[in-house]
Amino acid sequence: MKIAVMTSGGDAPGMNAAVRAVIRTAHYYCDEAFVVKEGYRGLVEGKIERAGRFSDCINHGGTLLKTSRLPEFSRDDIQQIAANNLRELGIDNLVVIGGDGSYRGALALSRWGINCMCVPGTIDNDIASSDYTIGFDTALDTILQAVDRLRDTSSSHQRCTLVEVMGRRCGDLAIYAGICSGAELVITNETGFDKQFVLDEMKKARLRGKQHAIIIITEGITDSTQLAKDISEYTGFGCRATILGHVQRGGNPTGNDRILASQLGSYAVDLYHEGRKNRAVGKVDGKLVNYDIADALEMKPKMSELYELIKKLG
Ligand code: F6P
Repeated sequence: MKIAVMTSGGDAPGMNAAVRAVIRTAHYYCDEAFVVKEGYRGLVEGKIERAGRFSDCINHGGTLLKTSRLPEFSRDDIQQIAANNLRELGIDNLVVIGGDGSYRGALALSRWGINCMCVPGTIDNDIASSDYTIGFDTALDTILQAVDRLRDTSSSHQRCTLVEVMGRRCGDLAIYAGICSGAELVITNETGFDKQFVLDEMKKARLRGKQHAIIIITEGITDSTQLAKDISEYTGFGCRATILGHVQRGGNPTGNDRILASQLGSYAVDLYHEGRKNRAVGKVDGKLVNYDIADALEMKPKMSELYELIKKLG
């Protein structure tokens, strides 16, 4: 069998471990393994090479294969070029490691006759066909380290700190970080955003004698800098906004991310050897699972039970 592997979309810690697992499992089965450089852009440009052992990389953050965002991949002519580039090398099996945009690209390629396996790699944890995505655990730890530091200065100045985290439309990074950092409030698309409620809660907290407060908010909900100013004016708490940004995507993957990446990357290749095609792999309730890619894309993320917990603990 000839199997190629690529990373796509936003990089996530653990992607290298997943690539390594794909390559090594392919070699275990005596398959020929290939790597595609620079995501879908590289695929269209024919940046496909025979894979080495991919050594000394399991601990690295980012993606050594590089990645890209290519909105043009929604076009039939571009998809066809990509499929032909693989076929010219005799490759008709591709493992795509990325988020939902990458899954959509793989689904499109499958319609051009390329067999695809999708592996969930994104810090956002927004792929509903797996309990966790590769990179989420590491990003959560990165956020916690930052919030712990912010707490020191917040408490020294008796301030409120508003921390904006990534996640695109998914609030999991915010809610998990909120629980783990003892935040007073978490604001996500799932919880909804009522500015007056936030202002009232912070005012009450101040009147109760709270010395400092942490609010975690998912990106894209409101202008965090403005919200911090409004909190300062309305509540008596001086409030500062910190937008964590891309620092959340970097760093060495945690042990959990390396395990998840190794299992899912290897499982994707196992599935080819079981004769399966066009599947999205994941881990649900501790078990490796696979779904049709289109079905995986249709799945709605469950609202984490942690949303209830934050109401009791905040
Ligand atoms: O999907 C991962 C992610 O980091 C999101 O959390 C964020 O909204 C987006 O990528 C940022 O993308 P870019 O690095 O292309 O600006």
